[in-house]
Formats: sequence, structure tokens, C-alpha cells
Amino acid sequence: MSQSVALRYKSQPARVQARSEEPALNSYMQSHAAQAQRSPQVFWCPDVVSTRDLGLAGVDAVLHLAGIMKSRPEDFRHTLSGRQMVMFFEKPSLRTRLTFESGMISLGGTAMFVDQKHEPLDAREKLSDVAHNLERWVDVIVLRTFTHETITAMAEHAGIPVINALSDLEHPCQALADYLTLQERFGDLKNICLAYVGDGNNVAHSLLLTCACLGSSIRVATPPGYEPNTEIVRATREIAEETGAVIELLNDPHTAVAGADAVYTDAWASMGQESEAGMRAQIFPPYQVNSRLMTEAASHAVFMHCLPAHRGQEVTDDVIDSPQSVVFDQAENRLHVQKAILYLLLGGGSRRLPARSAHA
Ligand code: CP
Ligand code: NVA
Repeated sequence: MSQSVALRYKSQPARVQARSEEPALNSYMQSHAAQAQRSPQVFWCPDVVSTRDLGLAGVDAVLHLAGIMKSRPEDFRHTLSGRQMVMFFEKPSLRTRLTFESGMISLGGTAMFVDQKHEPLDAREKLSDVAHNLERWVDVIVLRTFTHETITAMAEHAGIPVINALSDLEHPCQALADYLTLQERFGDLKNICLAYVGDGNNVAHSLLLTCACLGSSIRVATPPGYEPNTEIVRATREIAEETGAVIELLNDPHTAVAGADAVYTDAWASMGQESEAGMRAQIFPPYQVNSRLMTEAASHAVFMHCLPAHRGQEVTDDVIDSPQSVVFDQAENRLHVQKAILYLLLGGGSRRLPARSAHA
């Protein structure tokens, strides 16, 4: 959808107008000067298909607002009252499904889940027809798909916000929760280095883009042939030029982890790659995060994983169960960042800045 069409549909006053009680909420946020200095409620974008839709201002707004929502959930209890969210998932989920449902309900809205594992979302009818039905019934669409373009196309056609709950290319909500976790642990994200070790997959892509938006540092070590997507790397480097982020792509896990503040890994075979699992199990063992590899990171380093973990493959029990592990903090923060995204996209704040980036 072009910017003008997006504005015509996605900023319809009836759908996104601030509710009458929200000035009080916004004045609460503004009165809490230390936290509200940067007024995150002024940010708005039509969709979160990619981290690129949020950009620097949006990533900052989501992290800032998520922190406030986490500490004062009761202040947001009814802010999305009457709003309806529908979720279509082509792949399994524990965390994403439940944190979106719980988050929407805790903001006063309602959530509907459609198990779409039996066939792609566009198998029964044209995706644009699905979109034009949904926009008549609900306020926001959350999609977990194989093909990233399914989510891009839904955002093009639907006149209501669309949120990426994981595609083969990106997992934006995950990386936002991960960086909120790092911010809680270390404070200024510009001063830390995250080492991602394993497959150059959707999670790695979203960590790269989020790191770039935040001006932080990341080293990604993958086996040759499993490097991150070149278009994602190009976009990451372009953003990094603006923010000063340090992006290093490597093949050696030891170089990546050396002195790092956080060590992150993910499945060697993602959902949809099950047929490659045997072959990947031969290639990836040098990238296993075990206690030996963790000793090469900083002594204060944390271990991170988006979950589900394949214990004994990409991570050993002694690492994921160690005091260094923050995997359940990451899982908890999914709830808070997704509440912030829903609030911002559905016009929970008093002002919105219409903006839309291309979904590459
Ligand atoms: N991390 C994550 O997205 O978990 P689920 O697949 O359980 O949603
Ligand atoms: N890379 C993993 C992430 C799961 C949350 C997958 O896509 O299966």
C-alpha cells in the first residue's frame, strides 16, 4: 500500500483516534519526567512487518513504552478496550501466541486465534480477499507465516495494522524483547556487544536490524553457507551508518564470543527446515554454546535464546540452566514489547506520526 493509501485507510479516525480518557494517561506519562522525556506515545506506524517499519524512533519508542508498561501495567488496563485482534499462525507457537493474547486482553481488548497450520493463509482464497474481510471485522492482524511476503502482502491490502509474529525472514517482536532484556541488565545498549552464534536465520536478522537501530554492537558467527540474508545485511549496514552501530559477520564462533556481554543462539534448523535437520546436525556442532564457549565471553556475560531450545544441540543444559541464562526474562519481555506495539499501532497515544517504510 502506498503512503497515501496507507494514510487513507490506516489512519482512519474511527479506528485510531485517541480515546477520551487517554489525555489523562498521556499526561501521566509526561509527568513522569525521567521516563517520559522522549514521549514514546507520539510514535505511530501503520504496520510492523519488519523492524525497518519501526526504524530508529519506533524501536526506541517500543523499548521505552514497554519498560513503562512493565512497571505500571495497571495504568494501561483499559487503553485498548473494545479493540479486537485476530491471529493466524501457519507454524506452532507457545510464547508468541500466548503473549499476544495475554497482552491484548490485559489492555482491555480481545484476541482470536486461528490455527493455520493445515494450509497457507492464501490457499483457500486470494490474500487480498482475506484482508478485505478482516479489515471489516477486527482492528489488528497478527501473522506467523512461512513466506515473509504473505505478511507484506497482508499489510499492503489490509486497512488495519499488521504485525509480524515470525516469518522465515524476520522475528521483530523477539529481537525487541531481547534488547529490552539487555537494557534491563546492562543499561546503555551502545556500550554492549552481543555475540550471536549459529544459523543466520530470522532471529539473527531481527537482532541485526534492531542492533543497528539502537546503535549497539553485534557479532554474528555462522557456518559458511549459513550467513544472514544479504538484503537484511545491506539494510542493517545502511542503518548502522546512521547510528554508529558496529556490525561484524564472521564464521569463527570463538572470535564472535571473545569478551562479549551476551551470547545468543537459536535452533540449527528452524520451523520449515525439518528435512535439513540431519544435515545441519553434522555442520553446526562447532557452533554449540557450551560452558567452554561461555568462558570465552566476558565473566559477566549472559546467555540468551529465543526458545524453544534444542538442548544438547545448539545449547547444553549446563548453560541454559545456569545463573547466566536470561532466557525466561526474554520470554517475559515478549509480553511487554508486544503490548507496547499494540498500543502504539492502535493509536493508544494522543498523537501519531504517519510513517511507512518499504517492506523489502
Ligand atoms: N520465541 C518464540 O517465538 O517462541 P514461540 O515459537 O513459542 O512463539
Ligand atoms: N528460528 C526459529 C525461531 C523460533 C522462535 C524458527 O523460525 O523456528
